[in-house]
Amino acid sequence: MSTMNESKSANRLAGRVALISGGAQGIGRAIATLFQQEGACVFILDCDARSGNETATDLTAQNQSLPVKYLPTDLREPREIQTAVDALRKFHGRVDILVNNAGVELEKPLEKLTMADWDLVLNVNLRGAFLLTQAVLPLFAESGGAIVNISSIHASHAFPDSIPYACSKAGMVALTRNLALELSTRRIRVNCICPGYIDTRLWEEYLRHSADPKAVAEQTTALHPLGRRGMPADVSEAALFLASDSSAFITGTDLIVDGGLTLRAHS
Ligand SMILES: NC(=O)c1ccc[n+]([C@@H]2O[C@H](COP(=O)([O-])OP(=O)(O)OC[C@H]3O[C@@H](n4cnc5c(N)ncnc54)[C@H](O)[C@@H]3O)[C@@H](O)[C@H]2O)c1
Repeated sequence: MSTMNESKSANRLAGRVALISGGAQGIGRAIATLFQQEGACVFILDCDARSGNETATDLTAQNQSLPVKYLPTDLREPREIQTAVDALRKFHGRVDILVNNAGVELEKPLEKLTMADWDLVLNVNLRGAFLLTQAVLPLFAESGGAIVNISSIHASHAFPDSIPYACSKAGMVALTRNLALELSTRRIRVNCICPGYIDTRLWEEYLRHSADPKAVAEQTTALHPLGRRGMPADVSEAALFLASDSSAFITGTDLIVDGGLTLRAHS
């Protein structure tokens, strides 16, 4: 069974095995969807079992020759990470692409932040990516592979009430550069993407908690020189570029995907 999208696919990831953290929904689900359409065998690692199973079932139904498997894992738990990687080794024995996408966002002013808040955001967004990369490393073939990290424009631009999140995302850029250098000898390229506002659950939650969601949505759209907010597919296309041979000579970069949001010096 094939979908319309699949027939449009150029099979840029044919024969590759891809592991996507936080692939149950939002940007991660969009990446899983596109990678499967491009011929990859996709594994989703996520702590949300309901969405993880649902996404794996939906994508498998779209292309039964490339079934998508869900690995239940909380990235805060090193043992769970190892269990997931052991399962991946049993299923496939190797990995070609790792996407460190799982993340949590938290908005609180400095005086209200607790150590638990800091630990949650840093342990999922940054330590989780570090531990998963370290655990998956032995599964990369000698021929190399690609790692794509999902950072944020928060890595380089300050927004209100975002200290732990911004620090985790700036750390992701540093992790990317240092991994790129260390793993170059193994021919593993490492790059990251810095998305701006992308319409996913995180964005919807943010809107729901705002006093006037319609006005906030319009104001946010107006901040974008390209005239719209980002969609998960905008990020998944960038991830495909960085995971595929189209970017064979690119490593250690951070690619901004924000519709020009951060271009203006003044708004
Ligand atoms: N949506 C945006 O506007 C935006 C902008 C910039 C960067 N990002 C980043 O993109 C990534 C995806 O964001 P999204 O908007 O799709 O969010 P989302 O909440 O829709 O998806 C995040 C996924 O990560 C999973 N996850 C959370 N904690 C986890 C844990 N401890 N262990 C395993 N999985 C866990 C969730 O279950 C979920 O499936 C995040 O890293 C986020 O910081 C998002």
